[in-house]
This record gives sequence, structure tokens and C-alpha cells, in this order.
Amino acid sequence: MRSPDHPTALPKSQYAARLLDWYDCHYRHLAWRAPPGAPAAAPYRVWLSEIMLQQTAVVTVGPYFTKFLDAWPTVDALAAAEMDAVLTAWVGLGYYARARNLHRCAQIVAAELGGKFPNTETELQKLPGIGPYTAAAIAAIAFGQTATVVDGNVERVMARLFAVTEPLPKAKSILRELAQALTPIKRAGDYAQAVMDLGATVCRPRGPLCGDCPVADACAARRLGDIDTYPRRAAKKAKPTRRGTMFWLRRADGRTLLRRRPDKGLLASMIEVPSTPWVDVEKQSDGTNSDWRKYVPAACEWRRLEGQVHHTFTHFHLVLDLMVADTAVDAKAVIENVAGEIWADPHDLSGLALPTVMKKVVRLALAEDRS
Ligand code: ADE
Repeated sequence: MRSPDHPTALPKSQYAARLLDWYDCHYRHLAWRAPPGAPAAAPYRVWLSEIMLQQTAVVTVGPYFTKFLDAWPTVDALAAAEMDAVLTAWVGLGYYARARNLHRCAQIVAAELGGKFPNTETELQKLPGIGPYTAAAIAAIAFGQTATVVDGNVERVMARLFAVTEPLPKAKSILRELAQALTPIKRAGDYAQAVMDLGATVCRPRGPLCGDCPVADACAARRLGDIDTYPRRAAKKAKPTRRGTMFWLRRADGRTLLRRRPDKGLLASMIEVPSTPWVDVEKQSDGTNSDWRKYVPAACEWRRLEGQVHHTFTHFHLVLDLMVADTAVDAKAVIENVAGEIWADPHDLSGLALPTVMKKVVRLALAEDRS
């Protein structure tokens, strides 16, 4: 290793050799994977799985991967799909920008690259939704390139193996260098997945199973007896809480008013229940949504429901109140503040790209209908 602070306990090549031997016996059988040593999985499968695995756990991704492959078995099929169908199939995975980029990327690969993904990190990174991490993963796993994949699991394994005391996120560059130094020239794809699997199943965030680890004897954190304290992390800033008021407008024919969100920003292009803006509690003078009347989608008699919806996004917690009103079938004339209105049957929303937070709102509103 280059840094004298992080000496290697083993000859460098031994780390990869031991991890690959371990992977050959203990790899996770995942739908998108080729078994160790077998010809690589198709780039389309690797790309699709890696996009889904960004910020999402392996167990969650499994059924979505299968559903997408069934619906769109090739990149050309995905490129030809309606954006809305892709967004709807993505519901539940979160971070919806990924679904939009996935679709755009498929269209570029299909229309401009003859349906073939590029095989280098540099070219892969020119495509929408493919950052350095995903480019390295595709290059290594689908094309056998000697690329270093660094995700949270890999960072934890490196931080422990070499007892890196610098806290994250500052430690990222050190951990990357350490990971790069250990990456073998051969079987780089299996090696990348071996480190990720080791991090997920053995070198776990809490309760690591050092007895099962093929490099436990070389682990500096273990030698120091404080494995659980790695990787060190800088204190996180507390998430702010935003509040909003949702408007559940019921039409006499049983349909409910929904709308499409703008095509930029949080939950872009997804379907939602109309609402006030979501505002930081601290920025509201009395901590309530006292000005909700400005945002009602129709001038009706609005009634506040008991109960609230709680949801957490990456950067904030959200607390939503819910107001309900009834209106006539020809209500279109009174709609204000609503762009792209949709009158939907609230009991059959399966064809709409309704994100998880909105499903919670619908559930609360329907629970009220029943009570
Ligand atoms: N997390 C992200 N990509 C992965 C992969 N290919 N195998 C296991 N875990 C992963």
C-alpha cells in the first residue's frame, strides 16, 4: 500500500486471491448474476441491476429486476416503452430520477449505439444515470475490465482491514485508493462482487462474523479490537421536517382528483394528490400550515381528517395533514391551482405512477371513507 499509515499485513495479491476463493464458495445467488468464473452476465442485466441497486438493498431489488426483465427483456424493448409505464413499474424503489435516467439511457443505447452498451468506464459515464460507481461496476462485471467498484460495503471492508481512522465522508479518497490497490487484473468483476458480498454478509455494519472472514487474520481493526467503530463517520446533520396539507377532492361519481408533478425536482413527473407546498416547520411562523386555503384545488367545504402521513426522504422528514371535500361530477369548472388534473378511481390506482408517500396519503383518505 502506498500510505505508510496503512501497511498491508499480507502480500497485496493475497487479498484478492483469498476473497475470490471465498466468493467461489459463498457468493450470493442473485437473479442478475453469472456464477463465479462463468461468462459474464449480459450488459443489459448488469446495467439494470446496478441502477436499481444504487441506494436500494439487494432484497428489495430482486422482484423489481425480474419484473423489468419480464416486461422489457432487451434494451431496445425498454427504449420503446412509455415513460409512464417505466415510472409506474419503478414505484416502491424510490429515487425516481433513476427511472427517468434509465429510460433515457436505454433510448440512447438503442438509437445511437446500436443497442450495445460501451465497455469502458469513461464511455459509460457519458450516459444518463451512470456515475463513477455504476460505470466501474458495469465495466468490471459485464466486461471484465480492471475497474474498482466502491460502495458502502467496500468502504467498510477497507476501513476495517486497514483501520482507517479518518471519518467519512473525508475518508472516501483514502478508501478508494486502498480498494484500487487490491483490485486484481483478472476476474475484476467477480472480485468487485466478492468484496460487496463480504461487506453485506460477513463484514456487516454491526455484528461482523469475523470467524467466516477469509482475511480476518490481516484485519487491522480486528487486531485493535474495535471493529464496530469502523468506518468512522463525521456527525450527521439532523434532517429538517417539512409540513404540507393534502387535498382529497371526491367527485360524486367516486373519482378523486390527482395531478402530475412538474418534470423537474423531487418526484418529477410522478402522480400526486394536490397539496400546499411542503415547507420547513422552522420557516413557518406558528409551525402550522395556516395558509392552506390559498392552495385548495376547488372552492368547497374542506374538512380536516384526523391522522397524518409521515414519510422520510433523503434530505427531510415530511408530515402531511389531509383535508377532504366533495364536489359535483362537472367539477372541472372550479378547479384552481391544479395543472395536469386526473380524475382517478381511488380503488384502482395501479396504472398510475404514484410514489410511496402518495400511496400513504391515499390509504389514510380511504380509511376515512370507511370509518
Ligand atoms: N450492490 C451493488 N451492486 C452489487 C452487486 N453487483 N452485487 C452485490 N451487491 C451489490
